[in-house]
Amino acid sequence: MVYFAPSFIALAASVFFSAPAVAHPGHDIAEEIAERAAYLASDSYTDLAHCAETLKSRQADLISRRKAMVQHLRTKRGIVKRDFEDVLNTDHHSNASVTPDSPDDVVFAGNASCILQPETTEGPYWVSGEYVRQDITDGNPGVPLTFDIQVIDTTTCEPIPQVAVEAWHCNSTGVYGGVVAGGNGNSADASNINNTMFRGIQFSNENGILQFDTTFPGHYSGRTTHIHVLAHIDSTINEQNQTLTGGHISHVGQLFFDQKLITDAESVEPYASNTQSLMLNANDGIFAQEAATSDPVLNYVYLGDSVDEGLFAWVTVGIDPNAVTEPHAAVSFGENGGVVNPGGGGGPGGPPPSG
Ligand SMILES: *[C@@H]1O[C@H](CO)[C@@H](O)[C@H](O)[C@H]1NC(C)=O
Ligand SMILES: *[C@@H]1O[C@H](CO)[C@@H](O)[C@H](O)[C@H]1NC(C)=O
Ligand SMILES: *[C@@H]1O[C@H](CO)[C@@H](O)[C@H](O)[C@H]1NC(C)=O
Ligand SMILES: *[C@@H]1O[C@H](CO)[C@@H](O)[C@H](O)[C@H]1NC(C)=O
Ligand SMILES: *[C@@H]1O[C@H](CO)[C@@H](O)[C@H](O)[C@H]1NC(C)=O
Repeated sequence: MVYFAPSFIALAASVFFSAPAVAHPGHDIAEEIAERAAYLASDSYTDLAHCAETLKSRQADLISRRKAMVQHLRTKRGIVKRDFEDVLNTDHHSNASVTPDSPDDVVFAGNASCILQPETTEGPYWVSGEYVRQDITDGNPGVPLTFDIQVIDTTTCEPIPQVAVEAWHCNSTGVYGGVVAGGNGNSADASNINNTMFRGIQFSNENGILQFDTTFPGHYSGRTTHIHVLAHIDSTINEQNQTLTGGHISHVGQLFFDQKLITDAESVEPYASNTQSLMLNANDGIFAQEAATSDPVLNYVYLGDSVDEGLFAWVTVGIDPNAVTEPHAAVSFGENGGVVNPGGGGGPGGPPPSG
């Protein structure tokens, strides 16, 4: 059921062969893309189209969110499959009147993109052991962004409660906290190893929905603007220090934003001061690969009249909770601060950046 449109393959190949990654020394994006291609070629579900019948047959289901999802899936079936151009040309700017305080069924009632994030790699900057917390900014500046994720089980098509979703992204000038590495801000600043900025974990509620308060991510050379997400299944919270205990990781993915939203955010400070080169969605190989089978772009509204007044965004993510994946953390964070893992992070993305 999984196939690639020839145009997509050509695009992905040209992206990574003609534009070697410069941002993450030691991070081989070509390898990351190859890894994802192998996953996509397997029999795993790469979208939620198979859920249409299940969702349709639940006549008693009064939740408008799911009705909207059926509608969406029918539309999707009509067009056979999504492709990269489709996602790239979709405007995710919603005209729905929702705010971060809107009830779950209102937020997810509209054309929420109904997606499965195929298994992807964690990139070179995953830090394990982070805190369960809603506000992941640690007071750092940027355009306020609150985003909701709804987690759907691709095997049952039902929302999954109690999933611990971890999110991490760079700050408004394109630097990740928690990792000291060349290509990631000032590598002479050893204290960044203990910096928890823009990293955190939230549990999904009975509707499979969770919420983070953060700022719009910045950008760094070689990648378009994105947020990493990872799903922990059967984990519990260690109340003593608000970290996770037990469970397994079933999913790693990346979420993206409309290009026009990125352009708007990048026009205000501190984003505008970022001197790293800006890669467009259209040129990002990982965006292309995710967008080939799903819509990994967050829907959003402006909370005020302009971007600096803040954003609310949301997306539906399909996962198989029984899947087990074992990402490699560049750094393990714990009671002794951040400790670099000798084996390095990034998994298929290669060793952590150095030098
Ligand atoms: C939102 O936009 C769609 C398509 O542009 C339009 O059909 C719909 O009426 C709009 N809804 C509202 C509430 O403005
Ligand atoms: C949902 O998306 C479809 C296809 O893009 C569109 O025709 C429809 O008007 C949208 N519905 C709403 C409620 O926005
Ligand atoms: C982003 O993080 C780096 C490293 O901590 C820091 O030097 C930089 O000032 C931060 N950017 C902003 C806008 O705070
Ligand atoms: C939280 O507690 C666990 C268990 O004692 C410990 O292993 C971990 O390092 C602690 N994490 C932090 C950030 O203190
Ligand atoms: C990181 O935090 C730990 C625990 O508080 C501390 O021992 C260590 O010196 C810190 N490392 C740096 C580089 O600041």
